[in-house]
Amino acid sequence: MRRVDMKLTWFGLAVLLWVVGCSEGQGETSSKHASDDGTVQNTVASQDASRPVPEEYQAGEERFDELCARCHGNAGQGTNAGPPLVHKIYEPSHHADFAFMRAAMQGVRAHHWKFGNMPKISEATPDDVTQIIPYVRWLQRQAGIY
Ligand code: HEC
Repeated sequence: MRRVDMKLTWFGLAVLLWVVGCSEGQGETSSKHASDDGTVQNTVASQDASRPVPEEYQAGEERFDELCARCHGNAGQGTNAGPPLVHKIYEPSHHADFAFMRAAMQGVRAHHWKFGNMPKISEATPDDVTQIIPYVRWLQRQAGIY
């Protein structure tokens, strides 16, 4: 009986630590969730407005805006022509960097969404994509995706 009690106590403690840890981690972002009129907003949108892109990712941002944003949206949030890249399914363990290179160089056959195929982006060079990837990864990290 006592052993079970101890186990429950440890379990309770672990849950408590987990909850505290999570709310600490999100403290900064959750304050940005509510906009002035009190509606809940997309985390990425609100973060984007308040965080300047670090210098090291700015070249990637420019390339992204020019080559990818018309479908993947400002700061990778998606449009009605393409999915958000700031999304759990595009984190590195699901879509590694080569998936970005391949998408730009060869296009993508629609398989995750209903936007249709992504055409090959003929204006994009491998150099462009090499700069775009760390920018998108940074956006993903800002959104707490990984
Ligand atoms: C004309 C619209 C369009 C443009 C421009 C575009 N994409 Fe896409 N992209 C899409 C669509 C639509 C999909 C989703 C396909 C699906 O259903 O899985 C996609 C999917 C992707 C994926 C996921 C690939 C996979 O393996 O599932 C990556 C990565 C990607 N795009 C990167 C880029 C990058 C980088 C650029 C700019 C160089 C870019 N896209 C420009 C429309 C576009």
